[in-house]
Amino acid sequence: MYCGKFFDTALSKDYVLNVRYMAYQSYLTAPHLLNQLNNLNYPLDGKVVADIGTGLGILPCLLKDKNTSKIIGIDLDKDFLKAARSINHAENTGYVNADGRNIPIKNSVFDAVFVRYVFQHINLSEIFISEIKRVIKDGGLLVIVDIEDDMNIFYPDLPESSKKLFGVYYEYQKLRGGDRSVSKKLPGFLLSQGFRDIKIKPYTFVFFNNEAKRADAEALKKAFLLVQNELELVKDALFYNKLITPVEFHKGLNEYFKFLNLKDDVLISKTEFLITCKK
Ligand SMILES: C[S@@+](CC[C@H](N)C(=O)[O-])C[C@H]1O[C@@H](n2cnc3c(N)ncnc32)[C@H](O)[C@@H]1O
Repeated sequence: MYCGKFFDTALSKDYVLNVRYMAYQSYLTAPHLLNQLNNLNYPLDGKVVADIGTGLGILPCLLKDKNTSKIIGIDLDKDFLKAARSINHAENTGYVNADGRNIPIKNSVFDAVFVRYVFQHINLSEIFISEIKRVIKDGGLLVIVDIEDDMNIFYPDLPESSKKLFGVYYEYQKLRGGDRSVSKKLPGFLLSQGFRDIKIKPYTFVFFNNEAKRADAEALKKAFLLVQNELELVKDALFYNKLITPVEFHKGLNEYFKFLNLKDDVLISKTEFLITCKK
């Protein structure tokens, strides 16, 4: 089990709901992140590392076994950091409550900076990227992991109610300055901001279910819970902005569950990108 405390936190009533949803998301995506770390081809032993937009600190948790000398998790959200400190504390790990656009750290401190699932919320922000560049040592590494919704495949077609729900979620992120199809724009953006040696690697996750070869119950549960947790995090904001009604929201989610359980073949493929570059 990867970072089991994230799972305990998702179930614990001691934490506010947003923290619990985020904990479950972190827990479910941890195996992907660990795989990406193992394929990084960059030894992290003895390195000073930052994780900007760390959330509950899933990256610091996975880096524990990599002998990094120091890991600093930075995030805007106080609730997330408070939880991160109790879920994942270690001698070499610290957390800083700050905006990535104004990092209270000296120039050229980090050997490597990670930014996972953050650009989808802020899009191509020059202030953000120049702050990140400032705190990376010359020759240091920037590692970005982000999604690309334009590469999602659903077969057969999603039910209309689920399509509407996912479409509203996409639009909501855009209204807030984000972009769920940000990955394809990042390499050019990084080049324009003076980064070099840019490498781009896709990671595709596929869920397949059919009657003869049923997906195991655990894979099915995970495929649903990942989406449900993500949507629960923004549910109230979607209602408040009148983007969707509670009835439509729940219909979209219920029909997605039924879609995953269809007797016909069901195939879902989602791709995210790991982008590395040097300062
Ligand atoms: C989807 S979560 C990803 C968390 C974590 N990186 C992970 O991989 O699970 C995005 C995180 O970015 C943080 N965030 C968004 N904008 C930020 C900013 N300008 N500065 C610092 N953190 C930010 C949010 O508070 C949230 O914790």
